Amino acid sequence: MGRIKNICCIGAGYVGGPTMSVIAQKCPNIRVVVVDSNEARIAAWNQEDLSQLPIYEPGLEQVVAEARGRNLFFSKEVNQAILDADMIFISVNTPTKTYGEGKGMAADLKWVEACARQIADVATSPKIVVEKSTLPVRTAQAIKDILQNSPSKVSFQVLSNPEFLAEGTAVQDLLNPDRVLIGGDQDPEGQAAIQALVEIYQAWVPMEKILTTNVWSSELSKLTANAFLAQRVSSINSVSELCEVTGADIEEVAKAIGTDSRIGPKFLKASVGFGGSCFQKDILNLVYICRSFQLHEVADYWEQVVKINAHQRERFAKKIIKSLYYTVNGKTIAFLGWAFKKDTNDTRESPAIYVADALLDERALLAVYDPKVAEEKIYRDLDFLENRSSEDNKRLVQVAESAYEACKDASAVAVLTEWEEFNSLDWERIYSSMQKPALLFDGRNLLNKQALEKIGFIVHAIGKSSP
Ligand code: UDX
Ligand code: UDX
Repeated sequence: MGRIKNICCIGAGYVGGPTMSVIAQKCPNIRVVVVDSNEARIAAWNQEDLSQLPIYEPGLEQVVAEARGRNLFFSKEVNQAILDADMIFISVNTPTKTYGEGKGMAADLKWVEACARQIADVATSPKIVVEKSTLPVRTAQAIKDILQNSPSKVSFQVLSNPEFLAEGTAVQDLLNPDRVLIGGDQDPEGQAAIQALVEIYQAWVPMEKILTTNVWSSELSKLTANAFLAQRVSSINSVSELCEVTGADIEEVAKAIGTDSRIGPKFLKASVGFGGSCFQKDILNLVYICRSFQLHEVADYWEQVVKINAHQRERFAKKIIKSLYYTVNGKTIAFLGWAFKKDTNDTRESPAIYVADALLDERALLAVYDPKVAEEKIYRDLDFLENRSSEDNKRLVQVAESAYEACKDASAVAVLTEWEEFNSLDWERIYSSMQKPALLFDGRNLLNKQALEKIGFIVHAIGKSSP
């Protein structure tokens, strides 16, 4: 038992940071070193003030407080950490390719490949290399090929151990996972490597929740799990549009179908659309893989999940524009929330960005408030859209310190993230500070529609008939 003594994790992001923190907390005898090519990120992980960690996750501060400096270290010395490690996790980002073959669909593996090359060049003793990043099926083979050509000729084993944590609940998900999935080769060396990783998770995860498979099944399961989850959101969102024109109420429908134990209640919350770094990217990746095997019907089926999601965001923006008589020019729209979901400061693929883009095309003015997303990140997201200059974005979009400040003098409020705190706002105060009629677009069905209508708001909610 306990043959792994030193772990290195390359990539101190939303996955690598929390995952390694929990492994270090639960396995005090293993030295865990998290490295990252971004030195500023490492410095942020090492800050004294734990409220300033580079990512926000409920409960993470306590885990880091316990393990950091004891057996958890954040370092910029990548080569040294590789040399010292028995097991190396690759947890770098794998965004959708923006160029060349597979542009807009396939995952860009250049950073994963760079990690494999660096490990091959530096290692002088046997290593178990663990894919933590979500990768297209059969990436392990590419990693293996690179490692086998290592100048030092040391032996490598490659495992797939996809992470299923959701942002905002990462620490809870890591402490109490539904399952841990480990894929490896079926020969004795592969099985021994699997066993070494199983022993790490056994420190806190019951054995029956640790599933072992071959590498390809593990890689494909991760893509498929995300595709199924996203499909549920697109399914309920597609029905929400039907509800709006027929008078059915999406929350009543979701409850009625979700109580069927075969369907289950989770991931049936209609919304302005799913965001986050995984769903769209992983589905596009799945679609790309299917097409590369000429499985066009299968590819079309999954691609529709992404199309419905884009449609949902567009129709939300269009509803705002239409309700303001197609003259949004110069009117202020308050955005409550910018993160892709509550309890995270992550904004990757956030629907708020797409809705903002559509409104800015109509020359609206935006006032954005999010409790956890920093002002510079909001402007960075907007600048990334490229169809307006950075100066335009500064002029058209104002980042507010509070929901009250954002809503003052606004013609409409749009709820883009389901932060609980929006429920306890003084909505009468907000109403009296706004232009009239005061419109409210609840993109998360978070607020009490009747109570707001009583105050005087005209409320448009997802999947509910409009006034
Ligand atoms: C993860 C997974 O790894 C990705 O495959 C999954 O689909 C989404 O979640 P995440 O942790 O969210 O990625 O990404 P990010 O927060 O961007 O962190 C990745 C880190 O890797 C960054 O800090 C980046 O600086 C670092 N990195 C990237 C390296 O250290 N070296 C590189 O070569 C590339
Ligand atoms: C997801 C997977 O859940 C996780 O297992 C995987 O490791 C990474 O991708 P994440 O993207 O962090 O996690 O969050 P998730 O809770 O899945 O939400 C994704 C998006 O779907 C969010 O924008 C969320 O608001 C939206 N969503 C989710 C809905 O609109 N309705 C729902 O019912 C559930």
